[in-house]
Amino acid sequence: MTSLLDVSHVSVSFRGTKALIDVSFDCQAGQITGLIGPNGAGKTTMFNVISGLLKPTSGAIVLDGLDLSKAKPAKRARQGISRTFQRLELFVSLTVRENLIVAGEIRNSFGRGERFDVGAEADRVMSLLDLVDVADVDVAALPTGRARVVEVARALMTRPKLVLLDEPASGQSEEETERFGELLRKLVDDSGLSVCLVEHDVPLVMRLCDRIHVLNFGELLASGTPEEIRQNTAVADAYLGAPEETI
Ligand SMILES: Nc1ncnc2c1ncn2[C@@H]1O[C@H](COP(=O)(O)OP(=O)(O)O)[C@@H](O)[C@H]1O
Ligand SMILES: [Mg+2]
Repeated sequence: MTSLLDVSHVSVSFRGTKALIDVSFDCQAGQITGLIGPNGAGKTTMFNVISGLLKPTSGAIVLDGLDLSKAKPAKRARQGISRTFQRLELFVSLTVRENLIVAGEIRNSFGRGERFDVGAEADRVMSLLDLVDVADVDVAALPTGRARVVEVARALMTRPKLVLLDEPASGQSEEETERFGELLRKLVDDSGLSVCLVEHDVPLVMRLCDRIHVLNFGELLASGTPEEIRQNTAVADAYLGAPEETI
C-alpha cells in the first residue's frame, strides 16, 4: 500500500524550543489517521508544516508521490491538502451556505481544470454532513459543536484528497461528538476521502481511526492500530496517571 501523505524527518524549532524532532509518519489513502499527544506535543505545529504555513528546520512533505516541501500553502491546497483550525476560523456574519460558497469560489479561482458548480457542491456537502437544516443560519448563531462541522464542510469544498482536522470535536457535546464520528466514518467510507485527525477526545480517536501516531514532547512515540496503541507500554508510561481525556 502506498502512502497518500509521507512526512519524513520533520524538525521545527521556535527560538531554541524544539517543537518537532525528526518526526516521520504517513497517512494512507481512504483511511482516518489519528495524530495524538498531550498539549504542546507538536500536533498543530505538524499541521502547519504539512499545510505549508510553517517552514520546518528540516524534513520533507510528500503527497501522492509529489514532493511539496518547498510548495506554498496555495499549491498544497491545489494538490489536495485541506485543513481546519483548532480555533474556529469561519466567517461568523455569513450563513453556513455562504461560508461554503466562499470556499468553493476559492477553489474555482485555482484556475486549473474544470470549474465546478459551487452552489450544487455546497448542497452536496451540507447533505453529507447533515447541515441542510442550518444552511441559511448565520454561523454566529450556531452552537460551537455545529460550527465545528461547518468547518469540516468548508474544508471539503476544495475537493481535497486529504483533510487535516485540528480538534474538530472540541466544543461538541457528547451526543454531537458521537454523531460527528459517525458522519466522518461514513464520509471516508463512501467517498474515499483521507483524514488526518488531531483530537484530544481519545475514546473518539480509538473508535474512529484506522491507524494512530503518538507525539510526545515533539517526538514520535509510537505508531499503530488503536489496539496496538492501547497496549503500547511507552504510550502507557508517558501517560501514566494522566486522565484519558488529556492525552
Ligand atoms: N509560533 C510559536 N512560537 C513559539 N513557540 C511555539 C509556537 N507555536 C507552537 N509553539 C510551541 O511548540 C510546542 C508545540 O505546540 P503545538 O504544536 O501547538 O502543540 P499541540 O497542538 O500538540 O498542543 C509548544 O511547546 C508550543 O509552546
Ligand atoms: Mg494544537
